[in-house]
Amino acid sequence: MKKHLLSSADLSREDAILVLDTAAQLAQVADRPVKKLPTLRGRTVVNLFFEDSTRTRISFEAAAKRLSADVITFSAKGSSVSKGESLKDTALTLEAMGADAVIIRHGSSGAPHRLANAGWINGSVINAGDGLHEHPTQALLDAYTLRENLCGGVGDLAGKRVTIVGDVLHSRVARSNTLLLATLGAHVTLVAPPTLLPVGVENWPCEVSYDLDASLAQADAVMMLRVQLERMNDSYFPTAREYSRRYGLDHRRMESMSEHAIVMHPGPMNRGMEISADVADSKRSVIVSQVTNGVSVRMAVLYLLLGGNSPAQPAPHEGIEE
Ligand code: NCD
Repeated sequence: MKKHLLSSADLSREDAILVLDTAAQLAQVADRPVKKLPTLRGRTVVNLFFEDSTRTRISFEAAAKRLSADVITFSAKGSSVSKGESLKDTALTLEAMGADAVIIRHGSSGAPHRLANAGWINGSVINAGDGLHEHPTQALLDAYTLRENLCGGVGDLAGKRVTIVGDVLHSRVARSNTLLLATLGAHVTLVAPPTLLPVGVENWPCEVSYDLDASLAQADAVMMLRVQLERMNDSYFPTAREYSRRYGLDHRRMESMSEHAIVMHPGPMNRGMEISADVADSKRSVIVSQVTNGVSVRMAVLYLLLGGNSPAQPAPHEGIEE
């Protein structure tokens, strides 16, 4: 594994499978009455969130705490960032506090890369979502969920067909998933209105289609994307109703999928827009288990990047010299 996790492209097939296998082992901790391992005792993990988040922030926090790390959660609102402090000065402050890992979510694509490569901090940097760019731990938890449901929890995703639908243009989840799924051997089809596809999508390792019904019939899994209205300053489709009719997943469409096929969504959902409420709550929906799996996968990432198996603290006889 590389020192930082900035993009799904940082993961080889072997790295990705190592994360998934480690996550599967760590998932067993969640079934215990005491959900804690001493592995990262004495390590400091900083959650640096410049953008809103529910699932990702809580999930990283739970993951670090279950491994006994000290967790500092820093949200830009209420910090000196709102007084105009730069990313560099924020990073130097974290470094002065001895952060071993910094988990960063930022509205600007590339902010985690800057943090990792500028030499401001020594710890590992984990990208928890940067602008329209990437969200690699989401891709890992999605791969975990796919493997659990479609492959008996082992190996890679060779030959599995995953259809990713909706606002690909604004989705870091779509980009990270397409890269990782291709690395794991899955066949990805993106379905979106032409206005919601990014420039250069023809170079992504996937197929592109405008016909949801045709793609659903063959899919082993369908991943619905949130229509990211907060990032849209223009009109990308005529009306919400029109969007739902062509690109939304409702009960009728779900019925046309293979019996074993599953429904995914990274959350937060616009119920009634990209996904109907009955589909979101149906038996085929694995949306809640995606959240559960997120904790195990993030535990695995922290464990592997922070060298969880090397001693975090000096043994008593190696103590500080008097
Ligand atoms: C996604 C994100 O923030 O990129 N959500 C998440 O991390 N669970 C997707 C979204 O906001 O639609």
